[in-house]
Amino acid sequence: MMTRRQAIKGTAVATAVYAMANSARTALAQPPPPPGEAPGRPGFRPREGRPPPPGSGLIVIEPLKLPPLPYPADALEPHIDARTMELHHDKHHAGYVTALTKALGDYPELSKKRMYELLWDLDKVPEKIRMQVRNFGGGHHNHSMFWLMMRKGGGGEPRGELRKAIERSFGSFDGFRGQLTETATKIFGSGWAWLVWDDKGLAVESTPNQDSPLSQGKLPLLGIDVWEHAYYLKHQNRRPDYVAAWFNVINWDYVAERYAERQGYSGR
Ligand SMILES: [Fe+2]
Repeated sequence: MMTRRQAIKGTAVATAVYAMANSARTALAQPPPPPGEAPGRPGFRPREGRPPPPGSGLIVIEPLKLPPLPYPADALEPHIDARTMELHHDKHHAGYVTALTKALGDYPELSKKRMYELLWDLDKVPEKIRMQVRNFGGGHHNHSMFWLMMRKGGGGEPRGELRKAIERSFGSFDGFRGQLTETATKIFGSGWAWLVWDDKGLAVESTPNQDSPLSQGKLPLLGIDVWEHAYYLKHQNRRPDYVAAWFNVINWDYVAERYAERQGYSGR
């Protein structure tokens, strides 16, 4: 009997094949847009009016490419300060891409894969570079999503199907908010707190360092970076203040897009 993880992985493999084929068709049909034409969607291409294939993650994250911030560095003020955003993107995220590029230097075939493919099948990455892909690749993928999970004038509460799903899983939006806040504030050291989806539904979980939920067969919908580099300039040691401020910049529309894609994937 097929296990749940096997079922998820089987779907992911089919999705990856579909995504790659579709991407190739799209690439042939039209040149890539010039830089900056599609802010907020690094690497994302409209798929000829078709919905994104399930599991593709909505954004195509390339291993060796640092996506630009989808908004000015001061867009999230006063909740997240501009200097933190500059350093976070231009130094920390860029550093992960640089280190990943170096690690993949002898593996050009892996450099052509999408980040989510590498992280989903981390055990297939050669052992020699598996830890680098896990750490630097995870950092690259996590941060690429993180920028899109925030926006100027964000915050508030989700609506529609995502709202209903959160209420089913956590009782209420406040229940969800409390659980994510507690998880984020209690992470020992550096890591991420996530709203994830798998075929059991929604859950709040954490990962240490730059580990991706993808490597555990779970699909990240929303995540907060609680490494000190994400908040120390403004909030110093007061991580709970940063978590509370971050709720004011969440891009729920983007989270809902990610959830809608997952719905198609599960048939729910
Ligand atoms: Fe970070």
